[in-house]
Amino acid sequence: MTAFSVNKDVFTGQNEIDDAHQEIAELSQSMEHAIEGGLPFGEVYKLFQRLAEVITTHFELEESLLDSYRDDPDVAAHIEKHHENHAFFRNVLKYTETRFQDRIRSGKIPNIAGVLPKEYLDELIDLDLEMVELLKKHRPG
Ligand SMILES: [Fe+2]
Ligand SMILES: [Fe+2]
Repeated sequence: MTAFSVNKDVFTGQNEIDDAHQEIAELSQSMEHAIEGGLPFGEVYKLFQRLAEVITTHFELEESLLDSYRDDPDVAAHIEKHHENHAFFRNVLKYTETRFQDRIRSGKIPNIAGVLPKEYLDELIDLDLEMVELLKKHRPG
């Protein structure tokens, strides 16, 4: 179950972003282990909610960072693709949240292994790397 193992191997060189990627990777791993280890519904759900929160905050940071350079046409073109990918992830998070909510009563952990297609995860990583290349232009050194 690697549904949300986001950005584990991505290193952008930008501390704030790399720290968030690290935290996301760790949280998704904790969630995986919690599921595999048969931890109670409430604990898995709590981990998912924390993960969703960190991802959401991280997306907002990336988007506002990009936004401050939108005068650059290359950045502007990138923003569109990046937002589209983030929007997909936000939908997946929302959907997964609903799956958890549906099962609060039964206490059965939903099977979320397939909610995130690998293509979108790969694209997310590519976009983050592209973003870092674009931002280098504006932040010399
Ligand atoms: Fe991103
Ligand atoms: Fe990112």
